[in-house]
Order: sequence, then C-alpha cells, then structure tokens
Amino acid sequence: EPHIEELSKLLDPERDRLLTYNGVRTLMSRYLLKRLDGTFFETPQYMWMRVAMGVAYAESLYGGDPISWASKFYDLTSKLKFLPNSPTMFNAFTRSGELSACFVVPVDDCISGYSHEGCFGIYDALTLTAELHKMGAGTGYNFSKLRPEGDVVKSTVGVASGPVSFMRLFDVSTDVIKQGGKRRGAMMGILEVWHADIRKFIRAKSGQLKDIQLQNFNISVMTTDYFMKRALAGEDWLLFSPRECTCLASTWGDEFRRCYEDCERRAAKGEVKIWGKVNAKELFEEWVTSAWDSGDPGMLNKDSINVMHPAKNAGVIASTNPCGEVPLLPGESCNLGSMNITKYVSEGGIKWDDLFDDIAIAVRFLDDVIDVNKHPHKMFDEANHATRKIGLGINGLADMMIRLDIPYDSPEALHIADTLAMFMFSAAVKASHSISLEKGPYPKFNGSDWDKGILPIDRWFERAKQVSFKYLPEYLDVLNGNPDSSVAELVNSAGEVLRKRNASLDELRMIVRKGMRNATVMSIAPEGSRSLIAGVNSSIEPIFAIAYVRNLAIGKLVEYNGTALERLGRISSDVRQRILESGMLPSDHELHYLLKTANEIHWKWHVMMQATWQRWIDNGVSKTINMPSNAAVSDVEGAYLMAWELGAKGITVYRDKSKSVQVIYTGVAK
Ligand code: CDP
Repeated sequence: EPHIEELSKLLDPERDRLLTYNGVRTLMSRYLLKRLDGTFFETPQYMWMRVAMGVAYAESLYGGDPISWASKFYDLTSKLKFLPNSPTMFNAFTRSGELSACFVVPVDDCISGYSHEGCFGIYDALTLTAELHKMGAGTGYNFSKLRPEGDVVKSTVGVASGPVSFMRLFDVSTDVIKQGGKRRGAMMGILEVWHADIRKFIRAKSGQLKDIQLQNFNISVMTTDYFMKRALAGEDWLLFSPRECTCLASTWGDEFRRCYEDCERRAAKGEVKIWGKVNAKELFEEWVTSAWDSGDPGMLNKDSINVMHPAKNAGVIASTNPCGEVPLLPGESCNLGSMNITKYVSEGGIKWDDLFDDIAIAVRFLDDVIDVNKHPHKMFDEANHATRKIGLGINGLADMMIRLDIPYDSPEALHIADTLAMFMFSAAVKASHSISLEKGPYPKFNGSDWDKGILPIDRWFERAKQVSFKYLPEYLDVLNGNPDSSVAELVNSAGEVLRKRNASLDELRMIVRKGMRNATVMSIAPEGSRSLIAGVNSSIEPIFAIAYVRNLAIGKLVEYNGTALERLGRISSDVRQRILESGMLPSDHELHYLLKTANEIHWKWHVMMQATWQRWIDNGVSKTINMPSNAAVSDVEGAYLMAWELGAKGITVYRDKSKSVQVIYTGVAK
C-alpha cells in the first residue's frame, strides 16, 4: 500500500496532452481497460502506470526494487519515449497476462498428437493458434514439413490434402476468433522453395484468388542462397516431398545444399519421387509475378536468417512472426518495444547520451516482460526462458530525417540510418550484458555467437563475400562514400558517445563473451498502432503521404504528417488542395526533395534502407517496399534480388492499388 501511494504521486495528468487526437482515439478504442458496463476503468496515465507496475513486478523475483523500476518505466512510456508492443499495453497487470505480440508455432506432419505420440500436428497448432489469437497475438508457421497434396496417408490408405488446404483451416479459424476482439488476425504462412506444392502456394493469393483466399495470412516463400544462385544461372530445380527428403526442412547453408544434392542423386536412381521439374529462374519469375500482382508471396531467406542468428546453437530457424521482424525458433515469442526517436532530436543534432540511457531502461523493461509473461502452453514458457529474446525498435525515423533536412532517398539518409542502427544496437547490447552480470545470462548462452565474441554485423560481412553479384557493390559504394559535413558530424558525435560509454564495437566484442541476458535485442517492427499512439511516422518507413486515410478495425482515421506540415509552414491554397487530393506535394515544389512519399521513392532506396538496418539488427526488419501502381514485374524482381544480395532476411513489396482494399490511401479529399 505505501508503495502504491508513492507511485500514485508520480501520475502526471498533464502528460495526456502529449497525445494527439488519433492517439487518444486509438487508446480509447482498444487499450484503456473498461468495466463490464463499457465505462472506462482507467485514463492514459493510469494505463502507463498499470503497465509499468505489471512489468516491474519481475524485479521482485530477483530481490530487486520494483517500485523504482516502475517509476522509470512509467516516466519513459508516459512521455511517449518508449512504447511496448500492443499486447503488453492490453494485458499487463490483468488476468490475461499474455504480453507478447507474436509467436512461431511448429506444425508437424500429422493430424494431431492424439494418434501420433510425440507429433505436434496440424490440429494441435490450430488449437494453440486460437488460444494465442484470443489474447491479441499474431502467429507464424512454416508448413514445409507437411506432405504435398496427393501424397500417401498410410493409416487410411488415402491421399493428403497438402499445406495450402490446411492453411485455409487456419484462415477460417482466425476469422472466427479475431484477435481478442481487438484487432485483425495476423499470420505468416511459409513454404520452402523445394516443396512439391510450391507453385500452388505461389498462386494461393494471386490471380483469381486475389482478395479471396487466405486473407488473414501474409505468405512467404522461404528461399536459400543455393536456390537463388541456381535461379541466376537458369538451372533446373526439382521439387520434393518432405516425407521422403526429410533433411530439406531442417537445414540451411551448406548442409541444405548437401541434403538437396543428395535428394537429386536419389531421385536420379528412382529412390525418391520427383514431384516437379522446373527451371529455377522460371520458378523465381512466377513467384515475383504473383508478388507484383498482389503483394504475396514475400521472400524469406533461410540462410541470412540463420547465419546472422546469434543463438545458432539453440536450433535452426524456419519461420518468422506475421510481419517478418522476428525470425523465431518453434515456440519462441516476440517481446517488442520501440524508441520514439523524435524525442531525441534537438537543434540539428541527436541527444545520444539521453538515448543511450533510455535504451538501458527499455531493455530492462523488455527483459522483465519475459518473467511476468503468461503463455497458454508450457512449450512457449520453455522456449522463451531458454533464449529470453527481446526486440527493441524505432518509431519516427522519417520525422527525424525531415527535421534534420535529410531526404530519405539519399546517401546521407543511409549514413545516418547506419549510425543510428549501430548506436541503438550497441546501447542495447551493453544494457543486456549489464543485466546478465546482475541476473545471469540466458540459459542457452554457451556456444552462441555472443559467447564467441561475434556480432551480427560480422556475419553480415562474412555472407556478403559469397553473394556479391550486382547490387551489393553498388550498395557498398554508396555506404562507403563520404556524407556531407553536417551528417558526418552526427556520425562522429555518435561514435564519441559510444567510446565514452565503453560501447565501441571492439569493446562490445569483448564484453558479450562474458554474458548476454538476451539472445537477441533488436527488431524493426511495423509499429502500426504504436506509431499512432506516439503520433509519429511509423518505424523506419518514409512518410506514406502528407495527408492520408487509414482504414482500421476501429474505423476510418484521417491523418496528416505533422512534421511535414510544420516544415511546410504557410502554403498556398493551390498546394493545399493538391495535398488534400493526392496526399503529395507537386514535384516542382521547393520542399519536394525532402517530403517525397513512399510511392515516389525508388525501390532501390527502400531496399537499401532496410538492408542498412538489417546489418545491425539481430532479429529481422519489417518494411514495405512500396511501388507506384505502374511499376513493372522487373521492378519487383529487381527488389527481390537486391534484398537477397544485401542480406535482408526477407522482403515485402506492395504495388499501389494492387489489392481491391488496402489499409492506407493517399489523399483525404476523395
Ligand atoms: O500494435 P503494435 O504497434 O504494437 O504492433 P506492430 O509493430 O504493428 O506489429 C508487431 C507484431 O504484432 C506483428 O508482426 C504481428 O505479429 C503482431 N500483430 C498482430 O498479431 N495483429 C495485428 N493486427 C497487428 C500486429
């Protein structure tokens, strides 16, 4: 009780004024707890405190001081400097207690464990999915272990339906459950590029099935460097069943190549059925044509994902969460949070010291989430406690760039992004290391890349040497060029702070050997709701438009980019009209160079921005590579190849108006 009194004194209702109208609307619609009669139980400040207390409770499990941490957590979140992922805000200190935004659920090749002991089958995964969606979390699956359509089912002497049919079950179930009644369902469905049903999968959401089938899924083909090289060489590619070539689903890198070549040899001898023979290049083209048509399937690269995974010793990653920002081992969940970078911009500079200190609090928060989180199955508890993965990200990069006068499509933008990503990664690693000294490293630390003093960026360079064809040299040229003097100054000031904090890369390589609390620390999430609550542009995306309409489950939101309007100052009524109608500035406007919108920025800059973050991010980067509606299939193909070469773990392309309904539309006056 005295503690509660102490904390209640900290509540500062004035901070509600930091919220925008749309921010308040978002909080009221889904986040603030309500009584059964529908009246509000809390205000935004009570919500921040509820979340802070619920999470800081973890400190008492280690004999620490939850009250002082709760006050730090409250301070950071109520000032909108750091926001945890939505389920943490929905459920902290409530009966539900599920705080993760997403999970990867394994799917084995059986109907369920009822008839096959030890098998975690399709209906087992479906049951858990319903439980997870009920709490507001999204789910990801790799369906590649499922035998293809038409393969034999021994117990009934029947034939299998194949992964795509089973995915439809998950889709319908998601429609029925919704996510806690609070948001649209989100799932990632993956099939690997060697699977017999890959072509059916590639077409599953395009052509006549567009806007009809698997609407709750993002789908992605999981590729490997080996396939991509064969596609570039235009070689043949054989399709197999995982029932006969079991090692394909469980390997990556050289081991995958050996497994695949062994399958080919066995197929040549007639020991293994060939389910299809295609030209690898043609298969790739079919895939990017579907993506051009509807946005799906995206690409995931099993090799980039695994080679840069610091916890390789804990297993092979075969799936990501719904939007791709966290590749996860089966049963792991994502515990995300993000820094609102606009709060750290001042007078043409960045407050690096403040950012460094606040990241330490944010990392502590996310690590605490793991200890108070309640999951619907022990598989999730075990997986999460073994690696203790967290993912710190960012909101408001575009706002920051506008304020610093850096166009998104410029070498300067990549330089500043590279520095910011490195800085945030270094601060987060240092924080996780410090917690490990106090509370112990995560249980599977021994044998990890951290234990060996190897950072994800070291792995990025290692892989880059093997996949350099066309785009990588072009990218490195841009990155290795000299930025203009004001950006060079920012880059230097970040380096100075890192040295002062004993967090230079060389120092990090030394200290991580002594322990990390978390197997991963960074993740660039889409920030759909958090950016609304913080009132800033989402994540690392460029501005979508200056004026736009967003269609959400809670209704239509008319939005303006505040930073762009502030920068524009007084505008003529002509320009105003253009912005209201198209969401964009006329191309001859003097600030057009700085305020280009997502569809106006060439896909190469989108991909390079994504890759620049990925170099430092130990989880993944979720980003949409936007293209105008008249983009060609060859643009999508170029973007996929560039993303692959630059070490992006995945890619999602969206060509404007390629779906009949989209979430955001540019312009508000239609
Ligand atoms: O809502 P918030 O801003 O916290 O989340 P986000 O950054 O937009 O998305 C993070 C993750 O939450 C996504 O990758 C999904 O796994 C999950 N999510 C979901 O399950 N359902 C949604 N409607 C939105 C996000």
